[in-house]
Amino acid sequence: PYRIAVFASGTGSNFQALLDASRAGRLGAQIALLVCDKPQAKAVERAKAAGVPVFAFTPKEYDSREAYERIILSELERAKIDLIVLAGYMRLITSVLVEPYEGRMINIHPSLLPAFPGKDAPLQAIEHGVRVSGVTVHFVDGGMDTGPIIAQRAVEVMQEDTAIELQARIQDMERLLYPEVVSWFAAGRVKLEGRRVILF
Ligand code: GAR
Repeated sequence: PYRIAVFASGTGSNFQALLDASRAGRLGAQIALLVCDKPQAKAVERAKAAGVPVFAFTPKEYDSREAYERIILSELERAKIDLIVLAGYMRLITSVLVEPYEGRMINIHPSLLPAFPGKDAPLQAIEHGVRVSGVTVHFVDGGMDTGPIIAQRAVEVMQEDTAIELQARIQDMERLLYPEVVSWFAAGRVKLEGRRVILF
């Protein structure tokens, strides 16, 4: 089977959506590993409840980002991972992982990129006063929420929306879109040619 590793830092609601889709046979992929930079995160609990192997680590115990990424790389190789799925993993990735997984590492972000990269994208959208925001799934290239775009879905911003309310509707959309995009990969329907994404 096609094997994915999910990277998460917090709640793991996207991770849960992937687990649910996998169990329902809608993913076409096996979730073979959770990588988490916060051993106490809810995502780790969810993995344990689902019987998914976990690699959890504490970044400050390492000399550099590259040092812990080299350990992660060996875990990914050991687990024979086909695709890295970042789901609320709130750290930049270096070339240690980007290069070996070029075209095989994706991220989800709660805005229509290239608008509002980084943290608190729903709050950024409210503060800017946009009428439409949404969700982006893209390849990871080492920048902050940069990289070739695979899929986007729009979410309307309502007149009275708070950042929390907008975020909740954006996250509902994420939980629909991310399992779908992963299923495209598992079916071999996504290719990266240079900076161009080909869907077929
Ligand atoms: C998600 O909304 C994800 O799009 C966002 O963090 C949240 C994690 O929630 N990611 C970013 O902002 C990346 N820049 P989750 O842990 O419940 O899946």
